[in-house]
Amino acid sequence: GHSIVTLDDMSTTDIQDILDRAGYIDAHRAEVSHTCDGRVLATLFYEPSTRTRLSFETAMLRLGGKVIGFAGAQLASVTKGESISDTLKTVSNYADVVAIRHPKEGAALVAAEASRVPVINAGDGGHMHPTQTLADLATLRSRFGRITDLTVGLCGDLTFGRTVHSLIETLCRFGDVHFVLISPEELTTPQYVLDRIDATPSCSYTEVRDLTAVIGDLDVLYMTRVQKERFFNEDDYLRLRDTYILDEAKLAMSKPDMAVLHPLPRVNEIAVEVDSDPRAAYFDQVRNGMLVRMALESMVVGDDLAGYEPARPLSG
Ligand code: CP
Repeated sequence: GHSIVTLDDMSTTDIQDILDRAGYIDAHRAEVSHTCDGRVLATLFYEPSTRTRLSFETAMLRLGGKVIGFAGAQLASVTKGESISDTLKTVSNYADVVAIRHPKEGAALVAAEASRVPVINAGDGGHMHPTQTLADLATLRSRFGRITDLTVGLCGDLTFGRTVHSLIETLCRFGDVHFVLISPEELTTPQYVLDRIDATPSCSYTEVRDLTAVIGDLDVLYMTRVQKERFFNEDDYLRLRDTYILDEAKLAMSKPDMAVLHPLPRVNEIAVEVDSDPRAAYFDQVRNGMLVRMALESMVVGDDLAGYEPARPLSG
């Protein structure tokens, strides 16, 4: 196995295999429960998390493995000034695979370079969140039966929303997606992400400010939280945080089978009344997040999944 800093570190065949494996694991929980016997996952979380850390951990436990780590760097030797590299040179003696979340862009790459075992990026600042993208793709596949030929609206904080950057990067590899990028002027998509769309002949984008003007065109509406922790200025955050609020009145303007995704946590950007609408897919994402992390851990450090036959030839 090798490290996954972005999903560019996996072939498209392997990404599709992860989605296949996640479905297989869901239907064969008992059969796969020893796939990671004797293996140890370390979770190094230098930033808050509910879903990512707990799903990485429960995934390893449900595959028969064990978990070590810290949540909240204040309890680790980072408070004494230890570097990411030294932390990985240490922890990679203890664990077979490491999941790391860190507030700095590039931290997962630094970690991977220092580690003797595979490192999986669980979110590095405003850069990338590849395992969230696997959950997003699994959710799109279960809703639409495909991850191409879609009009995908991404709404909110497109500057700092790392889940958006990972999702666009990966959808471009499969192709045939039109992105509608909906954000305030101050929170537009970074140029390196736009370049990725521009470099993909079958993909295109439009940038708009008004959600209601475009919501009727969308197959997918991916809402995001304004990333308070990445702002330098509290006033800017307060001014921008409630720019887009999806409620039933706005949802009524969308296609009946549009899927509403959100990586969560949400603050105000999706009204709770939307949760009971069949278009709401964000708690499906949560469930798929655990299943894809089980699939990924089994692929990176596990034995063969009992009874599972890959649909496609895998890369080495
Ligand atoms: N979606 C996601 O990364 O959630 P957490 O920050 O709770 O892990």
